[in-house]
Amino acid sequence: MDYFAVFGHPISHSRSPWIHARFAEQCGFEQRYEAIDVPPERFEETLWDFGEAGGLGANVTLPLKEQAAVLCDELTEAAQRAAAVNTLIRLPDQRWRGDNTDGVGLMADLARLRVPIHGQRIVIIGAGGATRGILAPLLAAAPREIIIVNRTPERALQLAFESGALGIVQAWSLDDLASVDTAGLLIHATSAYRAGAPLTLPATLVDADTVAYDLGYGASAQAFLAQARRAGAGAGFDGLGMLVEQAAESFLRWRGVRPQTPAVLRELTALVNDRA
Ligand code: ATR
Repeated sequence: MDYFAVFGHPISHSRSPWIHARFAEQCGFEQRYEAIDVPPERFEETLWDFGEAGGLGANVTLPLKEQAAVLCDELTEAAQRAAAVNTLIRLPDQRWRGDNTDGVGLMADLARLRVPIHGQRIVIIGAGGATRGILAPLLAAAPREIIIVNRTPERALQLAFESGALGIVQAWSLDDLASVDTAGLLIHATSAYRAGAPLTLPATLVDADTVAYDLGYGASAQAFLAQARRAGAGAGFDGLGMLVEQAAESFLRWRGVRPQTPAVLRELTALVNDRA
């Protein structure tokens, strides 16, 4: 049976096995898709074993995405730009190609939600791996500018420097958030809420036209979105749509067919959010 997996540490919370089971069922494939918990120091040998066992493709999640980019034999442009891999593809000559579908997944979800990008001011809070993966696709949609705000401003500066050739990208310190102009799209990409340290969102950052989007999901995303709404944001969405869309893009790369996502997203949303 065709063999796929998702690698991460921890991994028990991952929704990827559920999503890929739905996709496989929908597209008529018989497959096994396992969640494999692997600490960074054992990732290389585990990936080797997975290949030996006939693994055809895999997803990679935290904290292994950057390491996966190093382990791959070749990288797509998206993976090079992100310096991170979320999708491993086994090539016919047994080498691993690394791709990154997070950015294209976000763009597909924003399109589904009809969130305009062109000409908009996008403010991204956070300058870690998640932000790095979405900058190029966002800039390709021609926003007016992207402002990256981060607790450690040097990391925001580094990302602005790396992507500056693709569009206007500014870097700000989180301490100066109250001076940042109102966002058309406010993207949250920090782990602050997971660390029990909610951000302070000034009312100047959002207005009724602002769409707030959290790249994550679950309780911490809901906490950020509630805060954004209280500050005055007109709409808010969590990253479950992005999760399903990036999975569909991975599936497409392995199977040559892109599954339908709306029903899967509806079911997943009920599973994750309605339980809370
Ligand atoms: P990811 O790959 O999910 O982006 P990461 O690289 O660890 O993870 O980045 C986490 C992001 O959350 C960073 O922008 C981090 O800010 P620093 O660069 O200053 O570390 C941000 N972050 C984490 N905890 C935070 C907190 N308590 N307040 C504000 N930002 C925080």
